[in-house]
Amino acid sequence: MKIVLATKNKGKAAEFASILGDKFELITQAESGITESAEENGTTYAENSRLKAKFIFEKTGLPTMADDSGLECDALDGAPGVYTARFAGEGATDSTNIDKLLAVLDEEENRKARFVAHITLVMENYEIHCEGTLDGEITRGRRGTNGFGYDPVFIPEGYDKTLAELDDEVKNSISHRRKAIEKMQKALSDLNLNV
Ligand code: IMP
Repeated sequence: MKIVLATKNKGKAAEFASILGDKFELITQAESGITESAEENGTTYAENSRLKAKFIFEKTGLPTMADDSGLECDALDGAPGVYTARFAGEGATDSTNIDKLLAVLDEEENRKARFVAHITLVMENYEIHCEGTLDGEITRGRRGTNGFGYDPVFIPEGYDKTLAELDDEVKNSISHRRKAIEKMQKALSDLNLNV
C-alpha cells in the first residue's frame, strides 16, 4: 500500500521510514509532487494532523499520513503544547526554541515533560487517528547532536542520556511517534487492508 507522508521534516521522515520498514511503500510529500503544505491553524494535535493529511490527500487522491507533535512541560501547565514548533515566535528555529525553553524553565525544579504525537491517516473511505507519548525530563543545557528539534534537552524516563545522545535505533524504539505508528499499523491490520 502506497502512503504519502505529509511532512517536509527530514528527521521525522527518516524516523517514519525506519519504524515502518517495508510494511508500507512510503513516498515523501515532495515525491508526490506537492510543494505546498496545509496551514496548521488547529487548536489540537489531532486537528492539525488531520488538516495536514487531508490537504495532501485531496490533491493526490493517495492515502496520506501526517503527524502533529509537541512537547508538554508540567511546570508550564502543558506548554508549549500545540505551539511547540513556534515557541520562540515567528521564524523560530530548533535552536531559538531550545534557548527559550531553557530560559523559561531556568528557575523551575520540576523538569518533567512529555512528547506527544498524533498521527492521522486519510484515505478514500477511512480516517484513522492514533496517538503516542514519551515521558521524560528537560535538562539544564544541550547534550548530543543526533536527532532534531528538542532532542538535545530531553532525557527519556529510564535513561541518563538525552535523545540527541542516544542512537537513532534507540530513539525510534521508544519515541512518541513509534507508539502512535504501531497503533496505526494495528488499526490497519484490524481493517484487513493488507498492510
Ligand atoms: P510539528 O509536529 O512538526 O508541528 O512539530 C512540533 C514541534 O515539536 C517541533 O518543534 C519539533 O521539533 C518538536 N518535536 C516533535 N517531535 C520531536 C522529537 O522527537 N524530538 C524533538 N523535538 C520534537
